[in-house]
Amino acid sequence: MTDEILLETFNLHREYGDTVAVRDVSLSVPRGAVVALVGPNGAGKTTLLKMIAALLEPTEGTARVCGLDIREYPRQVHSKVGFLPDFYGLYDELKVQEYLEYFGRAYRLGPREREEVIDGALTQVDLAEKRDILIETLSRGMRQRLAIARTLIHNPPVLLLDEPAAGLDPEGRHELQFLFRRLAQAGKTLIVSSHILSELEDYCSHIAILDKGVLVASGPAEQVRQSSGKGRQIRIRTAGNAQELEAILRAADLVQRFSREEEGWLVSFSGDEEDMAILLKQMVSGGIQVTFFGEEKRTIQDTYLALLRPNRP
Ligand SMILES: Nc1ncnc2c1ncn2[C@@H]1O[C@H](COP(=O)(O)OP(=O)(O)O)[C@@H](O)[C@H]1O
Ligand SMILES: [Mg+2]
Repeated sequence: MTDEILLETFNLHREYGDTVAVRDVSLSVPRGAVVALVGPNGAGKTTLLKMIAALLEPTEGTARVCGLDIREYPRQVHSKVGFLPDFYGLYDELKVQEYLEYFGRAYRLGPREREEVIDGALTQVDLAEKRDILIETLSRGMRQRLAIARTLIHNPPVLLLDEPAAGLDPEGRHELQFLFRRLAQAGKTLIVSSHILSELEDYCSHIAILDKGVLVASGPAEQVRQSSGKGRQIRIRTAGNAQELEAILRAADLVQRFSREEEGWLVSFSGDEEDMAILLKQMVSGGIQVTFFGEEKRTIQDTYLALLRPNRP
């Protein structure tokens, strides 16, 4: 990843009648980033991606993809972007290779170039061995990867993938994550949308959270993860002693919140490591049988919920 901004939106805004689907979204994406675009259904993810892909006109604002303004140069933007819609048709009665040939022809690639590009795309999505198989016999995960191979045919630097993991089983999702990483390593810049958050956690470099059309957070993943809450999260497990532990936590100045969960207690803590050690000592000398005590990284899920909560009734 470089510092070069490959894709940028400027107060991008879209209304459908009275509905504001995307509200003044300004977002910048460096080359080589894998951006997780997350938000609940109806948040505006699809609308935003379609505008960036120059497939849907903004009501206000604009975006630049590889330096090209989407309003001024929609055609050129199409050549820079591979777009995977959330619903798409595959041609079941075609073989894998034939399907990609079809799109290679649509992009007016010559036979030699077509062969090269299709070989490359099939290798990238790990379907090279399936090239002569009928699409209808592929698993759901393979079909999804084939659809992604199709977005690679014109070798675009930017990939916009709308809910690619929807409906996949854990194995299929896992394979997709590998694929995203490979694509980023091969120099692509990706925006991947989802309303399922946990699946994005491991592979994204950046996060953008949309809620009711508003970009409520965006930036490098680590930064967004931290931004939802100051301080640390500590996980504590004990053998019994629940009431005593609660009393200690309640009395500790640096403990902001705590909750008891299945996997133990989760404590929001505003102190540093030394303060953590002091808290642990207090617990032990207070007779609590501590079986686990450790800092826990915030997950995107935590961030997401924390950011969305204030907007919820
Ligand atoms: N073609 C359309 N006509 C009218 N309203 C639409 C249309 N497409 C989307 N919307 C509305 O815009 C909002 C955002 O939708 P969408 O971009 O599909 O969100 P997401 O992809 O995050 O689920 C929703 O309220 C949706 O109902
Ligand atoms: Mg959508």
